[in-house]
Amino acid sequence: MTIKKAVIPAAGFGTRFLPASKAVPKELLPIVDKPTIQYIAEEAIDTGITQVILVTGREKGSIEDHFDISFELEHHLKAKGKEDLLKLVQEISDMVQIVSVRQKTPLGLGHAILCAKQIVGNHPFAVLLADDIVDANPPCLRQMIDVYNKIGKGIVLAIKEVPRDEVYQYGIIDGERVADRLYRVESLVEKPPVEEAPSNLAVIGRYLLPPEIFEVLETLPPGKGGEIQLTDAIARLSEHFPVYGYQFEGERYDAGDKMGFFIANVRFGLKHPELGPRISDFLIKIAEEIKEQV
Ligand code: UTP
Repeated sequence: MTIKKAVIPAAGFGTRFLPASKAVPKELLPIVDKPTIQYIAEEAIDTGITQVILVTGREKGSIEDHFDISFELEHHLKAKGKEDLLKLVQEISDMVQIVSVRQKTPLGLGHAILCAKQIVGNHPFAVLLADDIVDANPPCLRQMIDVYNKIGKGIVLAIKEVPRDEVYQYGIIDGERVADRLYRVESLVEKPPVEEAPSNLAVIGRYLLPPEIFEVLETLPPGKGGEIQLTDAIARLSEHFPVYGYQFEGERYDAGDKMGFFIANVRFGLKHPELGPRISDFLIKIAEEIKEQV
């Protein structure tokens, strides 16, 4: 059975992005001219996902509004003859079937996923973190589902090598390479100190999960940071399901982190069809100024 539903959790506090994320969800901060979460939704759609389940929370209603019809705005653009902008705005609301659920208190990523239980139902599903952008062709999620379809069962995690001094920021796998880019995961640990990290292969924000994950999440005690951790639930489920790590092809940006967000803006800016050449000229000029100062 192939995967058709995707959960995008977007209910976190976004503390790494304060003060910007105090009143504006970090998931709506733009990478060039598009909110971060729209890149994520587009990846799901380009993969062939037919239903996107947003997990939002208090102060996050604007995320739902972004994907909804904006009657007044569309009326205004039509009246002004701004057909290009009208098309752009309408495309967002026509994207895909989007359903949203609320996570009343952000108790952790695992808890956010649990909030989508009723809508996901009894099917394997995908999770895409709302602040993890992967620039890839085919999309990262498509690559993972292709692997999943070959394996036919189990859990697939997107993984990526990270510098050893950054392992404490990620879920880290211990596993054996079983095919090109594919690892059989023996165990995984959330945010280990460098001396306890079993590898430098980090889980990044894409997961293919069976519905049995919900039963585990329902009884899971809080883990690292007092949060209900998805990594802990996957570790428990690994007793019954094979877990694979797939080293995807593509460039990943942590847009929930100030530096990652900035790098993503530069990279996507350079690729932007209208702005790219001007951004490139500007960056060259700035680089020369910096060189002169050093
Ligand atoms: P993060 O850890 O990046 O988000 O979770 P955060 O907790 O908002 O960020 P910081 O660490 O305080 O800066 C990854 C994704 O999971 C969502 C977040 O919104 C983000 O998109 N999330 C996290 C939830 O939906 N609920 C939670 O309880 C925690």
